[in-house]
Amino acid sequence: PNLAKKIAGAPKAELHIHIEGSLEPEVIFNLAKRNGVKLSYESIEALKRAYEFTDLQSFLDIYYAGASVLLTEEDFYTMTAAYVDRALADNVVHTEIFFDPQTHTERGVAISTAVAGIERALAEGEQRGLTSKLILCFLRHLSEADALATYEAALPLFDTYAHRLIGVGLDSSERGHPPSKFERVFAKARARGLKLVAHAGEEGPPAYIHEALDVLKVDRVDHGVRSIEDPALVARLADSRVALTVCPLSNIKLRVFDDMKQHTLKQLLAQGVAVTVNSDDPAYFGGYVNANYFATVEALDLTEQEVYTILRNGFEASFVSPIERQALI
Ligand code: HPA
Ligand code: ZN
Repeated sequence: PNLAKKIAGAPKAELHIHIEGSLEPEVIFNLAKRNGVKLSYESIEALKRAYEFTDLQSFLDIYYAGASVLLTEEDFYTMTAAYVDRALADNVVHTEIFFDPQTHTERGVAISTAVAGIERALAEGEQRGLTSKLILCFLRHLSEADALATYEAALPLFDTYAHRLIGVGLDSSERGHPPSKFERVFAKARARGLKLVAHAGEEGPPAYIHEALDVLKVDRVDHGVRSIEDPALVARLADSRVALTVCPLSNIKLRVFDDMKQHTLKQLLAQGVAVTVNSDDPAYFGGYVNANYFATVEALDLTEQEVYTILRNGFEASFVSPIERQALI
């Protein structure tokens, strides 16, 4: 309880949060009503009852259905402003947020509409003590051509929002969609000086983590927990200090591990990997950043020193400059 209190009060960086995954069921229903979008769940309770996931895909199906209520700039603002409130309540002082433009362009919503709404809420957050960056993620179940077209369409936004939109990522269904499928679009983003991240080794094999590092040349690996199956890879991550953005509650809800006591975060940390703790899709997985820390500390008996290392890793692995970073802590 004492350690929990210290964690709650500590300034934190969050490096793995899908903004569409912060849509609480109540907000989904409000936006559906506002926009006249028909949901296939008749009530908030019915929607919540569907949050019984068996794997990543069973979650993604519901996550994309939830995101279907987002149509206007105001909707993206509403969603992001709610997340900003939650983050501040958890003493998050810096956050690096993912968004999935292809989920929205498919419904006729321009990338600029999404970014404008997200930006307005993040700019307000800055005034309240939350700094932030935004990372555009490609959906890996879609084609390389679709990712390339999305990247080209977003190019003007990387200029207009250069202070915020600083990188690209890779998410959605991992199995069967290796990082190498997106080598060319990541090479373009790299040539432009953008930061690079990719989900790898959540459900996919350690080989996908090697690919993310070798082929995409990512700056961080999202999840990466299956690295534990490959000792050479663990050593490589530790030596390179390429961070893992681990999301403990997500891993349990999506059955990556049977229960929190089986989570490998503590072992990775002990082997020198730059592990961070994050919420992934907090509205779906049972909590925001602090809840992720609490559940992990409790199940794995993390020491105060271990928690401190994780907290510090979050700032060190962030995409703010070292001097800006110092100002946050
Ligand atoms: N994995 C892959 N794609 C995602 C996730 C995740 O945990 N959350 C939202 N999109
Ligand atoms: Zn994720």
